[in-house]
Order: sequence, then structure tokens, then C-alpha cells
Amino acid sequence: MQKLAIQGGFRLNGEVRISGAKNAALPILCAGLLSSEPLQLGNVPDMNDVATMCRLLRQMGVAIEVNGGQVTLSAAQVDKLEAPYDMVKTMRAAILVLGPLAARFGEARVSLPGGCAIGSRPVDLHIKGLQAMGAEIHIEHGYIHAQVPRGTGAKRLRGARIFFDLVSVTGTENLMMAATLADGVTVLENAAREPEVVDLAHCLIAMGARIEGAGSDTITITGVEKLHGASHNVMPDRIESGTFLVAAAAAGGNITLTDARADIMENVLEKLQEAGAIIKVSGSTINLHMNRRPKAVNVRTAPYPAFPTDMQAQFMALNCIAEGSAMVVETIFENRFMHVQELRRLGAQIDVEGNTAVVKGCAQLEGATIMATDLRASACLVIAGLVAQGETVVDRIYHLDRGYEHIEAKLSALGAQIRRVK
Ligand code: EPZ
Repeated sequence: MQKLAIQGGFRLNGEVRISGAKNAALPILCAGLLSSEPLQLGNVPDMNDVATMCRLLRQMGVAIEVNGGQVTLSAAQVDKLEAPYDMVKTMRAAILVLGPLAARFGEARVSLPGGCAIGSRPVDLHIKGLQAMGAEIHIEHGYIHAQVPRGTGAKRLRGARIFFDLVSVTGTENLMMAATLADGVTVLENAAREPEVVDLAHCLIAMGARIEGAGSDTITITGVEKLHGASHNVMPDRIESGTFLVAAAAAGGNITLTDARADIMENVLEKLQEAGAIIKVSGSTINLHMNRRPKAVNVRTAPYPAFPTDMQAQFMALNCIAEGSAMVVETIFENRFMHVQELRRLGAQIDVEGNTAVVKGCAQLEGATIMATDLRASACLVIAGLVAQGETVVDRIYHLDRGYEHIEAKLSALGAQIRRVK
């Protein structure tokens, strides 16, 4: 089990390049299943979830060439329409092969994702949407088995009007991909507006899909006969960007993000300014200067464009050492406070009542050994380690490696005293 050992008390200074977005790359890799022609991707981040997705697609017969951040997929010879449990259990995003397999091949067997640390995370909306498009779905032996009945000609889904009871990011992405090859028009209502949904739509449109309204809560997809190959560069990761900015706001210093996008981070940038950070945006660079103890900031998570749930844990770390008290309200997942008990081990003053945490800022945290429980919680614990007095050891950092590209190398380059230990 690998760990990160962090010496607290060092400010962060310098430049850091932002990688491609994990939550755009994962659905876009699955979009490769929709065509028999090659899909050429750029700016694909090097992280474990991307490697897992490539392994999953390869075992289906997709040819994948990885060359640094360039990934070329060719789904001309797909011969296995299944996502097995051992792959899905480690990465819920594997559910994103369901829509493309059903749409192009008329059949799919995808393991039900287990729950995960942050909540039960059902996929009922994905299933309901595919059923509305004509798929027959049976859940048996822990697998979702989707069959598209042979219609007049080939097995094809049919367009439908689908209303999401809850805003679901991968639910929107799965059904948007399925609808690109369905007969007729599909309208997704109460769709997710996340920028990663928009990036996927841009990639699908480059492949010949007809999609309008991506980024709004109503997306209209007109099915086409087939999709062709294309090239697409994955958008920058707004959560990685936010994570580095919060780290600098907590530790103090002056950092500049490059290859970033401030236009999709307005809520997070506003919160950082409220905490006392000075932020300057120029094109694809975001500069943050923090030369004072942060002020506590209230956050309430909600679907985009509101404050992102994937930034909740990081802001909780900031609030632990801020001036004053703050409320952190998590409205998306039912159990996304796993980092609280670990922060308390560093001396943080946090009271949790249901989905609300009240954080009373302390002048100082004390280093200790703590344990990561999920991806963003581990980022939160690294940030806490950067500011705690003495050494903090974060255990189970495989969680971190799933969703951040070379994070300790990037933090070390900014002046953090952080090293990986076996
Ligand atoms: C995506 O997860 C992201 N993952 C998550 O990022 C992110 O936290 C989440 O969206 C919310 O923004 C990827 O994009 C790969 P949801 P997703 O479907 O799509 C409920 C990270 O750290 N729901 O938007 O799985 C669900 O339980 C990860 O990078 C249903 O009830 O989340 C949750 O309460 C963590 N039924 C809410 O909706 C469904 O069929 C939002 O979930 C689907 C979802």
C-alpha cells in the first residue's frame, strides 16, 4: 500500500500545467465504441481510471494505441459486448459503455456497479432511459443485460423524450451517446449541464452526430445511420485546477495554472476570492496569490453551474485552518463526508449533522497518519497535510492515483515537501 509523506508549512510558488479532464476523457473513450472508424484523442490524462477504461475497452476488442496523451481507438472489431464485474467494481464510470454498446450492437452486458465510499450511486436513470428508447433490460446475477429487439431492419434504439428525475452526469452522457444512433429524435430533459457533457457532445458532433443544447438542461439528439472517425482534444480538468488553487490558498504563495479554463470555474474562483485569494485570469492561465490566512467560506454543492461536489472536500480542508466558521452542505451524495474523521485526527474542529458540516477554523493543524477513502477526500487530506505542523502520512493513496496525473510531482515542483513511500 503506497503512502504520501508530507512536511507541512511550505508555501506554494510557481507554474503548474493542468491535465486533460478525467470526467471528460472517460465518456469520450467510450464514444469510440460508436464508430468502426478510428477516434484520435489528444490531451488524455495519464491516470489509473483512464488506464482501467482502456483495459475494459481492449477486452471488448477495441484496438487502442496510447502514445503519451495521444490515444487512438478503433472499434472495428468489437467481439465482446460485456463489462465484467472485476473492472466495473473498481470504476463506476464503466457504466458508460452501456449506451454505446446498446446503440451500435443492439446488446450489452454490464455489471451493476457496486456502491462506493461516497454513496450507493444507483444507475436506475441510465436503465430507465434505455428502456424508454426500446431496450429490453434484465438484471440477472448482478449484471444489466440490455437487448434491443430487432425492428424493421437492424436492431436499433428509437428516439424518445426522457425526463431525468435527478440531474445525472453519466446518465446524461450514456443516453446522449445511445441517442446518436437511434431512429428518430431523443430529447433529454433536466439533463446535466456539466462542461464534461459539453466536451463529449463536441466529440460526438465531430464524429457526425446531430446534437443541440448540450450545456443546457434540454439536449436534443437526432439519430443518424452511423458515426465516422474524428479527432478531439480533451478539455482541461476543472477539478484538478480547483484542487491546486485551494492548496495554494491554504498553504499561501503564488501559483499560476497553465492550459486551464477559468470560464467553467466561476463559482470556485468566486469562493476563493471570498476566502481572500487574489485571482488574475489571462487566457488559459489562472494566477492565485494568497498572502494571508484564509477566511472561512460557506459552500453548498449542487449540479453545474453551482458549486461542484467534487470540490467540497478540498474546501473543507481550507476551512479547517481559516479564520471563522463555515457551513459545508453536500446535496449530491449521501455519504461524502468520509474525510471529516480523518481531518479530526489532525485537530480539525468539525461537527456533522446530516448533510451539513460546520467547520470551526483552527490556527494550526498537527500532522498525523491519516487514510484516504475516496478520490477527492484524498486530495483534501493532501491539502491538510500541506498546512499541518510536522509530518502527515496519507495512506491508501491509490484513490488519489485514480484521478490525478502525477500530483506529487506537480506539488513538489511548486515547493511542497511531499514524497511517495511504500
Ligand atoms: C459524475 O458521477 C462524476 N464522475 C463524479 O465525479 C461527480 O461527483 C458526479 O458526476 C456529480 O457531479 C464522472 O463523471 C465519471 P451522477 P455520476 O449520476 O455521473 C444519483 C470524481 O470525483 N443518481 O451525476 O456517477 C446519484 O446517486 C467523481 O471525479 C441516481 O439516483 O454522478 C447521485 O446522488 C466522483 N440514479 C446523484 O444522482 C442514477 O441513475 C448525481 O449522480 C444516477 C445517479
